Formats: sequence, C-alpha cells, structure tokens
Amino acid sequence: IFDNLKQGSVFIAQEIAGIIRRKQAEGKNCVLGLATGSSPKTVYAELVRMHREEGLSFKNVISFNLDEYYPLDNDALQSYNRYMGEQLFNHVDIDPKNINIPNGEWPKEEIKKYCAEYEALIESTGGIDVQILGIGNNGHIGFNEPGSSRFSRTRLVTLENSTRIANSFEFANISQVPRMAVTMGIDTIMKARKIYLMGWGPMKAPVIQKAVEENVTEQIPASLLQQHNDAIFVVDEMAAAELT
Ligand code: F6R
Repeated sequence: IFDNLKQGSVFIAQEIAGIIRRKQAEGKNCVLGLATGSSPKTVYAELVRMHREEGLSFKNVISFNLDEYYPLDNDALQSYNRYMGEQLFNHVDIDPKNINIPNGEWPKEEIKKYCAEYEALIESTGGIDVQILGIGNNGHIGFNEPGSSRFSRTRLVTLENSTRIANSFEFANISQVPRMAVTMGIDTIMKARKIYLMGWGPMKAPVIQKAVEENVTEQIPASLLQQHNDAIFVVDEMAAAELT
C-alpha cells in the first residue's frame, strides 16, 4: 500500500527495470506482459523517464499485451495498439518486431488460429517474466469477465455492459464501444512468473477488498491471483480503504 499512485507506479517501474537489467546482464531476453487503460500510464511514463535519463534499454525486451477491443482498426483512437505506441513504445528503444498485441483487425473466420498462435508465441519465448495488470470494477483482469474459466487461454470474449459503460468515455458514445475483445486467458496470466496488479483511487476499493480478502472465485477473476505464488497487489491508500 502506497500513499499515492505516483509512488506505487514508481515502485512497479523500478521492479520491471530491475528485471530487464538483470536479464540483460545474463545475456537473456526479458518477456513483459503489458496492460492498457488508465492504471498503468504513470508506470509507462516512469519507464520512459528511466530510458531517457538513466540509460534503461528495452533492446532485450519482448512484450505481449493482454487485450484489444474487437473488432477495431489498429489506428482507431481507442485502439490499445495505438495506446501502447503513445504511452511507451514510441519513446523507448524496443525492437518493433518484439512487440506483440492482440489485433482488432484479425479476420473473424481465423480468430481461433490467431489466438492459438499468440499463445504459442508466448510459450516459444520462454513465458512471461513479469505481467502487469489493472483491475475492472467487476474484478476482471485482462478482459476476462466474471465467470471466465481459470483454465481459459487467449480468445475472443464478449464484454460485460458494465465494462462497456466504464470504458465509454474513450468513445463518442456507448454504441461505439465494441461488444467484444480478444484477451489473454486467466491461465495465460497465471503462467507469468511474477505479477503486479495495480489499483488506484476510491472506485477500486470494493473490488480490491473482494479480490484480496474474500474467497477465490471465477466470479471475481482477480481473486484467482491468490493462487499464484508471486502475485503482488500494488494499491494506493484510497484503493486500500476497504481492506480489514
Ligand atoms: C487493459 C485491461 C483491463 C484494465 C481494467 C482497468 O489492458 O486489461 O483489465 O486493466 O479494465 O482499467 P483502468 O486502468 O482504465 O481502470
């Protein structure tokens, strides 16, 4: 629990930078699992600052993003492909061919094949070293909505209306918010060797309490992280307000 979002974000950025540098020193790639939305923006800003001011290099980084709206053009204002360029990738020295993001333009008839390839690619890199996550007000991680299987893998999912409403500020109106998304599964996320879930602000307090202190249930997907052996919830005082 940190005093504020800034301190929590700097902590996560330092952890990520430490893993990147350690693997660099070993001559190895570092595989990052990345999230979008409002929660990780300050983490990315801090990583960009460390790249500019402290020589943090992303040359050995391979990245996999959690999710993308479906269908959606890659250059749409709301696309997570675009978001990642703006928030992080355009400002650091990552090799563009090491960037992997589910694609809102994948053809529908072949989507199962693309999802299976995404999974296979994660495995062939040796798996995710560190995964960062936000949390939905309904407990979703990635776009794994309540009721998603613990054993789910990357797939096409239907978004809950509450998620579409929560994210509608990014779109002209609610009818423009895609009804579907491609997301890594819960099992994909649980295979990451280390996980940081971040929650900031009073809106996240009820779901943080449920995910951390109540029973493990697929109805609150983030609660499944209780069964991971290296998952850390990083929250500010406001998001921690309902913890006992
Ligand atoms: C985004 C993602 C989502 C968000 C969650 C919280 O890639 O996977 O699970 O992390 O919806 O969103 P924010 O951070 O906007 O509150």
